[in-house]
Amino acid sequence: MKNGTCWLDDRGLPIQAHGGMILLHEGTYFWYGENKDAPTTGASVPLMGVSCYSSQDLRSWRHEGIVLSNRPDDPSHPLHPSKVCERPKVLYDPKNRRFVMWFHADSRDYALAMAGCAVADSPTGPFRFLGGQAPNRRDCRDMTLFQDPVSGKAYLVHSGDWNKTLYFSELTDDFLGFTGVCYPAMADQEREAPALWYQEGLYYAVTSGCTGWEPNSALYSVTPQLSNGMKLMDNPCSGPGYRRTFGAQSSYIFEIGGKPHILLDHWKPEDLKHSGYSILPMTIEGLWMEIAWREEFEGV
Ligand code: GAL
Repeated sequence: MKNGTCWLDDRGLPIQAHGGMILLHEGTYFWYGENKDAPTTGASVPLMGVSCYSSQDLRSWRHEGIVLSNRPDDPSHPLHPSKVCERPKVLYDPKNRRFVMWFHADSRDYALAMAGCAVADSPTGPFRFLGGQAPNRRDCRDMTLFQDPVSGKAYLVHSGDWNKTLYFSELTDDFLGFTGVCYPAMADQEREAPALWYQEGLYYAVTSGCTGWEPNSALYSVTPQLSNGMKLMDNPCSGPGYRRTFGAQSSYIFEIGGKPHILLDHWKPEDLKHSGYSILPMTIEGLWMEIAWREEFEGV
């Protein structure tokens, strides 16, 4: 697959999994993301729901359909087409054998800034919407989910205080609510599009600046503990277009063959449904991280 371009599913249609994530579950990769399959007006599309695709090799993607549906029937519903549902992320809860999704639930003007939650018994849904909330009474804009492999605790990692600070809001053991434990990170640095990773005693975050759909410089941060000390380090990108993240924005970090890879969105603000993707391998050694551009993603 050619990095930076619109990728097609098994039907030959553009993959609608923007701002998404890839979950490996029982040998199958599931790609969840925003369905933007509607005409773009004013740099936005109606809320279409969350799509899911499955794959064995990360190259051919089978369309599993919309797993969290919009609610055109109810204008006040957080999933009504007039609202915003972005950056959906899913964790598997093995104890309750449930898939838990969190996403950025917002009004079209991004003033509401809530975290939405949904659950399903199967990775391909259907996900049942449980509600939206302000985690620890804070706003939730760009976000991701991160499960700390050391403690097993999961966090909703969200831009808050109008994007000024990134918050780690600890989830309850069933991932459905918040414990009240919350760590701020990178105060006043205005970072968004968080993608998290842990390796050999260090936690890493790749984030973007706040320029909407326009690409800017990715920066990575490192800390030995999630509760504090997360420091901005450098732009990890190298190769053509490295100053503006190759024209893309971070979405999720996941493992392929024991090596971290990053999923990026190449937004097309004038035609969002044809936005492209890249998957790039990452080199991480202690305090150093590099994401080198590659024209092709070969899959597994
Ligand atoms: C970006 C954000 C996207 C989307 C967009 C809307 O900054 O990362 O997820 O919210 O703004 O303009």
